[in-house]
Amino acid sequence: MEPPLTSSTMSGEEMQQYPILTESGWQEPNSTLPDLLQSETVRALHAKIEREWSVLQRTACQTAAGRALWNHVIHDPVAHVLAGDTFLKSLHEKMSKDRLNNARQVSGVILAVRTLWFDSKLQDAIKSFQEGGPQVVLLGAGMDARAYRLGCLKESAVFEVDFHDLFQIKVALMQEAMGSPEHRRKAMTAKSVTTVAADIRDTGWLEKLQMHGFVPEKSTVWVLEGILCYLPHLNAMQVLQTIASSSSLAQTVLLADFMNKSSAALSNSTYHFYSDWPDQLLAALGFSSVRLSQIGDPDANFGLLHDPQNMFNKLRSLPRSTQTDPEDGTPCRRLYLVEASGFPTLSV
Ligand SMILES: C[S@@+](CC[C@H](N)C(=O)[O-])C[C@H]1O[C@@H](n2cnc3c(N)ncnc32)[C@H](O)[C@@H]1O
Repeated sequence: MEPPLTSSTMSGEEMQQYPILTESGWQEPNSTLPDLLQSETVRALHAKIEREWSVLQRTACQTAAGRALWNHVIHDPVAHVLAGDTFLKSLHEKMSKDRLNNARQVSGVILAVRTLWFDSKLQDAIKSFQEGGPQVVLLGAGMDARAYRLGCLKESAVFEVDFHDLFQIKVALMQEAMGSPEHRRKAMTAKSVTTVAADIRDTGWLEKLQMHGFVPEKSTVWVLEGILCYLPHLNAMQVLQTIASSSSLAQTVLLADFMNKSSAALSNSTYHFYSDWPDQLLAALGFSSVRLSQIGDPDANFGLLHDPQNMFNKLRSLPRSTQTDPEDGTPCRRLYLVEASGFPTLSV
């Protein structure tokens, strides 16, 4: 999701409006990228995004802005260019305001923690495979640049799945940020990266993936970051079932985030799928060793959530069945980070 960002509003994809402040405590972008952001081509591509993309597609730029502005903890060399000026400015303003007000959590912190959680679990999952690098599929990849920033992918074929329009512009932006296809190949940290234009609400997305080189019999890590909540319930369940079924053919790891019901209720028009008990849901679909974390847990903290009174730490101390904070009556809006694995059963 572009998840609840602060305790005060938790209004979804960076929806809060703050005045512009010049003071800021966050790390400024490095010196070369802002120039690139002002280049005519990059500006024209982002103008096209603002004109033509749906709200859903534009969430890809919002998450990239989160990675760009939390660059003291996430090294993503192309996040600024992929995010664009408008989304960077908007998040910068919110972060500046939060810092000035000594907010208990600074805007974008969930995005940063979520990305770091996926990075670290992806690294662990890759290490856990016995032979070679597993395939890695990023469903709803958006402006993800893991294939250019994670060394753990060096043996892995990476597949990015998202809408056709999104890839058209992403590829052009990557070209601006990294130069010729030759330069991009050199900068790549994955063994390969393949973009697959598909709508994962359609039943044919897995076939499209296979047509682009995905091999169902090869071990696979599925990365579903900030995507499930945007899918209608039926489609989200179909996607999860498809992934669960794939584990009958090869060792499979699924990494996914789930909004709970209260989080999804923030915007009925934007968010659809939710689960209050995703660990039970995945176990029922046949996954084994399902592990669930919440933002703020020891493996989902990364030293970014110090204040014991911040919303995430307060939520962690309440039982998961609690729907309303007994202290102030606010809904318990949670984001679950879940890791699950599946293995082919050995027939005797
Ligand atoms: C919030 S962004 C997350 C992007 C990326 N995973 C990240 O964390 O930066 C959601 C992405 O899901 C994509 N998406 C949403 N619905 C989709 C669908 N039905 N099929 C394919 N992609 C979809 C959007 O285009 C967008 O890029």
